[in-house]
Amino acid sequence: MDFDIKYKDFRKEIRDYVEEKIAPHAAEVDREQFYSREIHQAVNDKGWWGSTVPKEYGGLGLSTVEYAIIVEEISRVCGSTGLTFAAHNSLGTFPIYAFGTEEQRKKYLPDGAKGSLIAFGLTEPEAGSDAGGTKSRAEKSNGSYILNGTKCWITSAETCDYAILTARTSDEGGVKGISSFILEKGMEGFSVGKKENKCGCRGSNTAYMHFDDLKVPESQRLGEEGMGFKQFMITLDGGRISIGAMALGLAQAALELALEYSESHIENGKPINRNQGIQFKLADMGTQVEAARLLIYKTAWMKDNKIPYTKYSAMCKLYASEVANFCTATAIQILGLDGISEDYPASRYFRDMKLCEIGEGTSEIQRIVIARELLKDLQK
Ligand code: CAA
Repeated sequence: MDFDIKYKDFRKEIRDYVEEKIAPHAAEVDREQFYSREIHQAVNDKGWWGSTVPKEYGGLGLSTVEYAIIVEEISRVCGSTGLTFAAHNSLGTFPIYAFGTEEQRKKYLPDGAKGSLIAFGLTEPEAGSDAGGTKSRAEKSNGSYILNGTKCWITSAETCDYAILTARTSDEGGVKGISSFILEKGMEGFSVGKKENKCGCRGSNTAYMHFDDLKVPESQRLGEEGMGFKQFMITLDGGRISIGAMALGLAQAALELALEYSESHIENGKPINRNQGIQFKLADMGTQVEAARLLIYKTAWMKDNKIPYTKYSAMCKLYASEVANFCTATAIQILGLDGISEDYPASRYFRDMKLCEIGEGTSEIQRIVIARELLKDLQK
């Protein structure tokens, strides 16, 4: 399928909108490290907080390919917004739709689609890459659970209205003793802790969440008891497409900047991109960006068509984030000292990019997932 032709008009409309409404704030939210309500409203005005939420629950019901294009275009102008947006859609609304009861869907999805942010609580101080090492506990007591624990590195911890998180409901069965719950911000015993001072994506807030004897009614459990780990792995399969798309947007931005700068920057009487040393770099950037784009759209298309895509989502996130690393670093190199000046966005792209190689599973975890899936394929 030629994704470029099929989605040309769709992309143009998004690009024009984000250039007008989001791009002008990107440098400021990064510099001042705050969550912009103006950007939030601009996303809301388009209904994008509910991009993949089905129309019957108040969303736009877009395909994963369309959603990936929105993530890409937003991230091309603002990595911080790209991250908040991707986390809310892929990790917030998706699991409620995929695993929630009808009652839970009706209660939370229309709200989420209108911009009430939903955070995803998996990572803990002693359970990062080893997500199965969850220490938070939910003890059953008279039709409720009593929840105790700490989650860290939670995107939108400060600004969310809801959070979905994992906690251990049984010591037996390893990861099968983990369940998931939907929490509301005002619940007694739910507090937000230390805010992270990150090098990139600084307009997206990241903080600890603490749960102290938090009483959670059984009706707030997401799906069956003991299914939390699996639900979160399935959710991350989708999330990794959006982090790939975020990386792609940053790589694309870096490529465009490098092209424009090298055309307008004159040395020895000619644009610096007349030198092969610069051209080789531009060629590698352009080629890698195209390859990443194809892998991401293919994976999104597989998800839309219900074709197993665990291996591909790990591949597209791994590849696109490493492409983004290469492209953002190379853009800085082409710009020379201007690349490390705040007068240009190159260093912001570079700082925002790093999240893509770590969040929603490090590159090393993606390689583990890919290798395991390849070996499974071999046995088939
Ligand atoms: N889909 C469906 N089921 C899955 C699955 C998937 N993608 N991955 C695992 N499972 C199932 C397995 O089939 C298995 O179930 P059975 O026993 O019934 O077969 C069960 O889950 C356990 O799987 P594993 O044995 O593979 O589990 P593991 O302990 O070896 O861990 C891992 C696997 C891939 C390393 C996993 O721990 C992982 O992905 N770690 C990275 C965590 C991560 O990405 N964290 C990101 C946090 S979110 C974030 O960063 C958000 C942000 O905002 C920045």
